Amino acid sequence: MKIGIIGAGNAGKTLGSALAKQGYPVMLGSRRPEKLADWVQVENADHTTIFVGTLSEAAAFGELLIHAVTGRDAIEALNLAGEQNLHGKVLLDVSLPIDFKDGRMSLFTSTGESLGERIQFAFPESKVVKVMNHIAAGVMVNPNSVADGDHDLFMSGNDGAAKQAVSTLLQQAFGWKRIYDIGDISGAQATEGLALLASRVASALGHGMMNFKVSH
Ligand SMILES: NC(=O)c1ccc[n+]([C@@H]2O[C@H](COP(=O)([O-])OP(=O)(O)OC[C@H]3O[C@@H](n4cnc5c(N)ncnc54)[C@H](OP(=O)(O)O)[C@@H]3O)[C@@H](O)[C@H]2O)c1
Repeated sequence: MKIGIIGAGNAGKTLGSALAKQGYPVMLGSRRPEKLADWVQVENADHTTIFVGTLSEAAAFGELLIHAVTGRDAIEALNLAGEQNLHGKVLLDVSLPIDFKDGRMSLFTSTGESLGERIQFAFPESKVVKVMNHIAAGVMVNPNSVADGDHDLFMSGNDGAAKQAVSTLLQQAFGWKRIYDIGDISGAQATEGLALLASRVASALGHGMMNFKVSH
């Protein structure tokens, strides 16, 4: 399955590199794809298959899409990716609606909404699945690096088949063991809020290689 990644920053590159190492053809989309030339050369020396392109080229390339753009810029970036290229596709969304002030993270969304919902509303023909937004990119692609993988993900989205496809991808590509389906895309309010807690816990720990585990 070909993966298109909207956003070629830290999260996009980490996800793209890990997926390519698992054999998935990947295209990263950026407003300035030329800035990725050296990075791609190093990655592909490892016999992986990563391409770079514009946001619309990456969106057109992917059969499944990942959205990894800064929250304030999400809708603008997805418009550049092109509604026609998102149409009918799964959009795995790891973005966060956050601002930083005095080193502290806060959400810019209002009470009772989330960035995941905003994206789903703006692009109704895409199938937004919100997952992994509260953990560091290094943990997203290597859950076993924390407590031998004994911790949990929480996934929301309106389309059951899209959530199943994302769940299968995360299990097969990265080895995630437990992924809770927490319902429709309004569940993004919970996982985006969870990022605030994760950020505080990471500060207390002194590192971000952490996640939460549900006990019941
Ligand atoms: N990094 C993590 O560990 C992590 C963990 C959880 C969640 N997240 C979330 O994932 C998202 C990406 O994080 P990151 O760390 O990868 O950020 P980053 O390194 O700052 O990269 C941000 C990306 O957003 C793109 N972008 C910014 N403004 C844009 C605009 N106006 N139009 C189009 N594209 C634009 C940039 O594109 P260009 O290449 O065109 O400059 C860049 O590729 C954020 O929402 C973040 O909160 C990140």
